[in-house]
Amino acid sequence: MSETDVLLEVRDLWKEFQVADGPTIQVLRGIDLEVAAGERVAIVGPSGVGKSTLLHILGTLDRPTRGEVRFRGEDVFRRSPEALARFRAESLGFVFQFHHLLPEFSALENVMMPGLLRGEARGAMAPLATRVLEEVELGHRLNHPVGKLSGGERQRVAVARALVLEPPMLLADEPTGNLDPETASHIDALLLRINRERGTALVIVTHNEGLAAQLGRRVEIRGGGIGLEAPAGGTPSAVG
Ligand SMILES: Nc1ncnc2c1ncn2[C@@H]1O[C@H](COP(=O)(O)OP(=O)(O)OP(=O)(O)O)[C@@H](O)[C@H]1O
Ligand SMILES: [Mg+2]
Repeated sequence: MSETDVLLEVRDLWKEFQVADGPTIQVLRGIDLEVAAGERVAIVGPSGVGKSTLLHILGTLDRPTRGEVRFRGEDVFRRSPEALARFRAESLGFVFQFHHLLPEFSALENVMMPGLLRGEARGAMAPLATRVLEEVELGHRLNHPVGKLSGGERQRVAVARALVLEPPMLLADEPTGNLDPETASHIDALLLRINRERGTALVIVTHNEGLAAQLGRRVEIRGGGIGLEAPAGGTPSAVG
């Protein structure tokens, strides 16, 4: 991987949690990871090992106890809270297992939301949101309240919302964990197509081995958060 196409760089990342009256839990212990522009990465590992914790830190939704997250060479956690929020809105798209959409609002309004929050005009966002909803094959449901869409349709709205500002990277935490297998494979195919056509890097936490295989690169978190990394079908080598 050349210097120039590294999008995300994680160095010696540690995360511990402390709950009231409980012991300190060491979840991530020195994770190293690089993701190139346009790359596809599956993050796998048993329940409770720290996959969501890692994804939240990569997405700057939480801070590490120690270590660095660099995006295009810049240490993201050195930014001011305002600059960090702007960075997150412009550079990252998020898709979660439970979609966090606004059920009362239409598909179009939900997808326009990231732009509106950034201060863009409705008139500017509506055509962008329409185009990305057409891309996820929901052009016929633009004005439908999201609460009245099917599960798979909602998750496609969530994908559209994550993509509307054209981030270079999409982070997804079990994006299809809540869907039936057929709908799930439809969403998986959609994410892979977005990667192919737009060059959006994908970092996806998944328990689905089929999806992990399609993504091509597999990062396994295990043993209290020690990262083991291997190309698909290759020999694992410790990077943690
Ligand atoms: N905010 C928090 N405070 C305290 N402990 C936490 C917090 N968030 C996560 N943990 C603990 O950290 C560990 C890792 O949690 P995490 O959600 O990252 O696991 P995961 O690998 O995503 O699991 P799953 O596959 O079940 O989603 C768990 O033991 C969890 O209980
Ligand atoms: Mg999780």
